[in-house]
Amino acid sequence: MRKILVTSALPYANGSIHLGHLVEYIQTDIWVRFQKMKGNLTYYICADDTHGTPIMLMAEQENVTPDELVEKIHKEHSKDFEDFHVNFDNFYSTNSSENKNLSEDIYKALVKNNKILEKEIEQYYDPEKKMFLPDRFIKGECPKCKTKEQYGDSCESCGATYNPTDLINPYSVLTGSSPIKKKTTHYFFKLSECSDFLSKWTKSGTLQKEASNKLEEWFKSGLTDWDISRDAPYFGFEIPGASGKFFYVWLDAPIGYMASFKNFAKLNNLSFDDFWKNNSEAELVHFIGKDILYFHALFWPATLEYSGYRKPSKIYAHGFLTVNGEKMSKSRGTFITARSYLDNIKNPNFLRYYYASKLNDSMEDIDLNLEDFSAKVNSDLVGKFINIPSRTSGFISKYFENKLVPIASIENEKAKKLILEIITMKDLVLEYYEARLFSKLIKLLMSQVEVVNEFVSHMEPWVLAKNEDQHNINSDLHQICSTCLHAFRLISIYLTPIIPELAEKIAYLFKESPYESFSNINIEAIEINKYEHLIQRLDFKDIESMVDNSR
Ligand code: 2FM
Ligand code: ZN
Repeated sequence: MRKILVTSALPYANGSIHLGHLVEYIQTDIWVRFQKMKGNLTYYICADDTHGTPIMLMAEQENVTPDELVEKIHKEHSKDFEDFHVNFDNFYSTNSSENKNLSEDIYKALVKNNKILEKEIEQYYDPEKKMFLPDRFIKGECPKCKTKEQYGDSCESCGATYNPTDLINPYSVLTGSSPIKKKTTHYFFKLSECSDFLSKWTKSGTLQKEASNKLEEWFKSGLTDWDISRDAPYFGFEIPGASGKFFYVWLDAPIGYMASFKNFAKLNNLSFDDFWKNNSEAELVHFIGKDILYFHALFWPATLEYSGYRKPSKIYAHGFLTVNGEKMSKSRGTFITARSYLDNIKNPNFLRYYYASKLNDSMEDIDLNLEDFSAKVNSDLVGKFINIPSRTSGFISKYFENKLVPIASIENEKAKKLILEIITMKDLVLEYYEARLFSKLIKLLMSQVEVVNEFVSHMEPWVLAKNEDQHNINSDLHQICSTCLHAFRLISIYLTPIIPELAEKIAYLFKESPYESFSNINIEAIEINKYEHLIQRLDFKDIESMVDNSR
């Protein structure tokens, strides 16, 4: 049995979960549920990412303390995840004592290993607000193409990247005043000294091919030291021995993975060291978006290496979400929050299924085309998948006292072959799950669903029902309908990580408890509960109102 600690990136505590975030949480949740069903000891860990200037300023605007804001958002996020069936073992917060202690200890270890450098730098300072300004809080003219209103780090018009001090006529986004340059001491992590370690580590099979290539580019342009400190006022952890200096949010955020696990381990009597000590045999798997690869594939392993912890086993990066082929946008109504989806469309299984049908192991972007979404879930889930029990279970209840013909007693050759094919598909199904080839998996299973539907159409149980004078146990009608239901049940077990709640209802149809293991494939159902409607068609009007409400 493998031991696997899995994480998704920690969402910032200053905004709602939206459909873009959900790509990752759904992808990870499917993979985790798969590992658990396979029998691997797997923990899915996450937390809110609570520190930094934007959160501090948002709290100020809302007239609450950052702690109050963070708590409010934590409740909102937790409910969103729960309602999308994203089943964390622990959803914690980076604003915790565990995280503070770990961050301080790690920092001290880095100091001890001579990996921290103190350096005086010059930064923009807002004299009115009396604070140093992060790049995103300064705007001005692009030094290259002269477009106005560009941020301090890059130009949205020509794509140039630069330092905020290069901007022409800079102003503070907070007060509109002209920022002044001010000297301050910062702490740097000496990433430039980690090239040897990192270039080896990044080639150790931890990353996707595309990610390694990206890293090669970064190695070529040379690794620069990483500024891990920010000046007060800042919402975060104060650096030990450096009054008025705080850890930059990206230092303590990934440590939040450890802290969340530490909290979970304590509550559940598990050993923290088993998962985090240097030679741990457990796997550590991070699911992330491709935009934060730099942090996870360079800063994070280097931080761990030079503070004496184990490094990630795998980093799985995914692409961005586009909606109707474009970046999500408020004005187009495609910046859709998790809550807005739930309020309008209601059924989270649809999105889980659709994302799975699009996801693979690459960093390519995925598109949520709303028309395709509605057509696909209606056609696949309602029209084909749920169509199987809705066409066949009624006969089992009406004529055969809800009893199924056991698989071994099925005589029809086609029927036998059909079930055997689905059973022997198990290895391939597990292989696809393991490799995150969810779109291939859905294709495979849906083609089998089609085979079952063709079988029903060909066998015409409704004609048999009319023609059989007596509906004897093991009659053709009984055999055909039982075959379809066995097949449907097996496919449902395979689909459980993707549509867990629907699978739970299906398990109930077969008088079983929820499928928690793929070994359920090896047993069979013997009877059914009376069929109750399992799923409602998605009405495109609900998508339209979701879009209208998102503008
Ligand atoms: O990019 C983000 O949304 C960050 N909040 C992710 C943090 S992941 C981890 F390293 F903490
Ligand atoms: Zn420009």
